[in-house]
Amino acid sequence: MQLCRTKAEMRALRARWPGPVVLVPTMGFLHAGHLSLMRMARERAGQGGQVVASIFVNPTQFGPGEDFASYPRDAERDLDLLRAEGVDAVFAPEPGEVYDPEAQTIVETTELAKTLIGKLRPGHFRGVATVVTKLFNIIRPDAAVFGEKDYQQLAVIRTMVRDLDMAVEILGAPIAREADGLAMSSRNVRLTAADRAAAPILSRALDEAETMAATGLTASRLRAHVRATLEAEPRAHVRSVDIRDAATLAPVSGGLARPAVILLAVSFGSVFLIDNRVIVPTPEEP
Ligand code: PAJ
Repeated sequence: MQLCRTKAEMRALRARWPGPVVLVPTMGFLHAGHLSLMRMARERAGQGGQVVASIFVNPTQFGPGEDFASYPRDAERDLDLLRAEGVDAVFAPEPGEVYDPEAQTIVETTELAKTLIGKLRPGHFRGVATVVTKLFNIIRPDAAVFGEKDYQQLAVIRTMVRDLDMAVEILGAPIAREADGLAMSSRNVRLTAADRAAAPILSRALDEAETMAATGLTASRLRAHVRATLEAEPRAHVRSVDIRDAATLAPVSGGLARPAVILLAVSFGSVFLIDNRVIVPTPEEP
């Protein structure tokens, strides 16, 4: 496995690869969810292609007062995991390597960046879209893999690629969960024991919602029910519960006629967790 610390090293390595190159961008502190993305990348790249993981805790996607400084990091462990997974190369730049101090160009999906998590974390998706564009330009992958856990992020990336004619195929990977249903996240290690025990309420609320949606509930009743389930957990600080069109993230009202996604954002102490579930309505019996 090759390790590139600078953009120049990464570009030089990439220039030597003839076959398909598949990128998996990460902020490190890897878990089994990240590793499932590496396997999807390998499938797309084939044995003759190359899988590249990037590890970079991107400062521009954290707001003031967010957890940039305390975001968990363990570079050596990450490299061991990626080596064991058969990843061909890792791009792990130092913080000063990525952004020019004079940088003044940003990439922003103007509408998608303002809604949902964009409301709770202003500027977050601008930071994500900008760094992912930079990674695409440095590594020039044929395809890149993103997790459905960050549902809005995946929508932002797909929209950006469409709008700016980027020649990168975007693949979405299913949410990897712990045995008790909690969606895997690098942030889970920052939960206190009591918060960790309470956190599976997110996936339980989504399970319940999925069952209830099958009974033909309207979006607003479903949303109220999910919120009440989450609020019954005193440790959970519910930040948002939304039901949106699964394809466009446009608000939905009334009965669910098309695939919809339920998006949750819940804080436990200073730890911000998200989860989501796509609900596909079953066609009515004739
Ligand atoms: P990070 O949170 O490290 O996640 C890297 C990738 O792993 C993202 O595509 C994310 O959706 C995916 N992922 C995380 N947890 C997952 C889970 N439980 N199941 C499936 N996939 C999961 O997302 C970022 O980093 C950053 O915003 C980044 C895209 C790297 C830009 O800085």
